[in-house]
Amino acid sequence: MDRHDKIAISMIFLLSLLLAIISSIWQASTMPNIPRESFDIDPRTALELARGFARNYSDGVVPPGVDIYITGIQWAWIPNNIKIKAGVTYRFIFMSSDVVHGLEIIGPKGVVYSLMVMPGMAYVAYLRFDEPGVYEIRCNEYCGIGHQDMIGRIEVVR
Ligand code: CUA
Repeated sequence: MDRHDKIAISMIFLLSLLLAIISSIWQASTMPNIPRESFDIDPRTALELARGFARNYSDGVVPPGVDIYITGIQWAWIPNNIKIKAGVTYRFIFMSSDVVHGLEIIGPKGVVYSLMVMPGMAYVAYLRFDEPGVYEIRCNEYCGIGHQDMIGRIEVVR
């Protein structure tokens, strides 16, 4: 290896280091929310939890302190309609029961939360909605022909 080779190799090394730094900064600034808390869950268990939650809280406002289970399944969110109180922090558990879905919550003023949900994982997020109104849960990760039909509703009330 002569001197030029060494210089070339160190240049390449420095350049890739620089690219790695730039891309991690870029990622950090554009990444959807990554909850700090997550745990493994069987996709079928995820579905049972979400269905159970949907059964128990389909009418009325979800009382503060109650965990909210939401799972994505081709091609819907379960539950697909919940009512929560404005200004209250709820513990949400977001899951998928089949493939990767992109959970995105869109309020009157735009996207308020987004998270990629993978089957086998439960993601815990503490969310508070201060603005009353209707928020939509959409899927922003292509997941098959019914992808655009994955629309759920969160109604935030005073
Ligand atoms: Cu689920 Cu796209």
